[in-house]
Amino acid sequence: MADNELTMKLDGKDVPFTQGETIFDIAQRNDVFIPTLCFDPRLKPFGSCRMCAVEVKGIKNPVASCTTAATAGMEVNTVTEVLEKHRKTLLEMVVSENRELEVSPLRGVASQELSILVEKYGAKTGRFKGAQSGHSRLDDKNPFILRDYDLCISCYRCVRVCAEQEGDYAISVMNRGFHTQITTEFNLELRSSACTFCGQCVQTCPTGALADKKALRHA
Ligand code: SF4
Ligand code: FES
Repeated sequence: MADNELTMKLDGKDVPFTQGETIFDIAQRNDVFIPTLCFDPRLKPFGSCRMCAVEVKGIKNPVASCTTAATAGMEVNTVTEVLEKHRKTLLEMVVSENRELEVSPLRGVASQELSILVEKYGAKTGRFKGAQSGHSRLDDKNPFILRDYDLCISCYRCVRVCAEQEGDYAISVMNRGFHTQITTEFNLELRSSACTFCGQCVQTCPTGALADKKALRHA
C-alpha cells in the first residue's frame, strides 16, 4: 500500500479510497450491500430517502452514505441492529404512501426496487396509515408513458433524470408534504410538456409508478 494512500475501515476491514469518494461508492466497490431508494448511479446524490444511512464512529446519528464523503481513518458500520431497524421502519413509512407493491416487472427495469427491499427487510405494509400523496394521471392520453402516481414514493428520481440526463425539465413537483404531486409544467399532459418520451423516467422509477405502456400492452 502506498504511503499516501487513503484508507478507512468498512465493517472492520481496512479499505483504500480516493479523495471525494462517498461511503456508498466505497461500499459498492467492495461488494458491501447498502440499501437505497433515491439513488441512481447516473444522478447526483440526493440524500432524501435515508435508506442508505450507516453508522460512523464518533458521529451520534447515522449519516447518508450516498452523500457523505469518506475521510481517512473513518470507521463505518453498514449493518447494525439499530440500522436494520431504522431501514425497516423507513420502508414501512414509505409503503404507507404506495398503494400497490406487486407490479409487473414490465413496467420498468427499476420497478421492483421497493418491493424487493420490503421483502428483504420484512417490512409490514399496514403499519402506518394516513394521508397519501400523489394521484395517478391515467387520463394522460400519451401512448408511451403510464403515470400511475398512486404508487409514487416521491423519490424525485424521475424529476432529476429528466433534468440532469436529458436537460428537458419536463417533470416537476407540485406542493409539499402529503400534497406532493409529481407533475409537468402547468400540471398538463406529457404531450403538452417538454417531454421527448425518452423513457428515462420510466427506467429509473423504483416503484413502477411510471411505466412503459407499450411493454404492458404487448404483455
Ligand atoms: S414517479 Fe417514480 S421516480 Fe418519480 S418520484 Fe414517484 S416513485 Fe420516484
Ligand atoms: S439513497 Fe442515500 S439518501 Fe436515498
